[in-house]
Amino acid sequence: MSRSLSIVLSAMAVILAAACSKSEPAPQAPAAAPAPAAAPAAAEAPAAAPAAANPEAGKKVYEQYCMTCHGATGAGDGPGAAALNPKPRVFNSPEGKAMTADHIFKVVKEGGASVGKSSVMAAWGGVLSDTQIRNVVAYVQKLQQ
Ligand code: HEC
Repeated sequence: MSRSLSIVLSAMAVILAAACSKSEPAPQAPAAAPAPAAAPAAAEAPAAAPAAANPEAGKKVYEQYCMTCHGATGAGDGPGAAALNPKPRVFNSPEGKAMTADHIFKVVKEGGASVGKSSVMAAWGGVLSDTQIRNVVAYVQKLQQ
């Protein structure tokens, strides 16, 4: 009897406590506290963090796939360029220097036509991996200087 009474009493205590906490909410920290920490953290993350490109590996890709048209120094004077019209872009010309890495990546992967240029500049996406393209972009950036 005393045991069941104590169960009843403790059950009532729980109910009373619940009822009290409902009618008298404990003061809480303001729920709408601004959380400015999230924004800078997101802004710090690079939009598209490319793995560090390797221009030395890119040079090999360039010599194998690009040099016949673009020439050893990127002057657009490779043997394969003689008959071409338009001529390949001279990488260290003002127009060539204006090309961003993203632009070069797109041209190489998707072809000249993807940026409104001649389709003689082929799409290399089926031949070269993204890593190889990033590397050759890094090498073209050296030739832009
Ligand atoms: C068959 C010859 C040929 C080969 C091979 C070739 N290109 Fe081109 N490329 C061109 C021509 C022609 C243009 C100029 C297109 C135009 O101005 O309309 C061009 C343009 C470009 C441009 C400039 C695009 C622009 O917006 O002006 C880049 C960058 C480029 N090529 C990179 C490469 C790379 C890197 C490779 C090797 C993976 C390569 N090309 C292989 C012929 C070639």
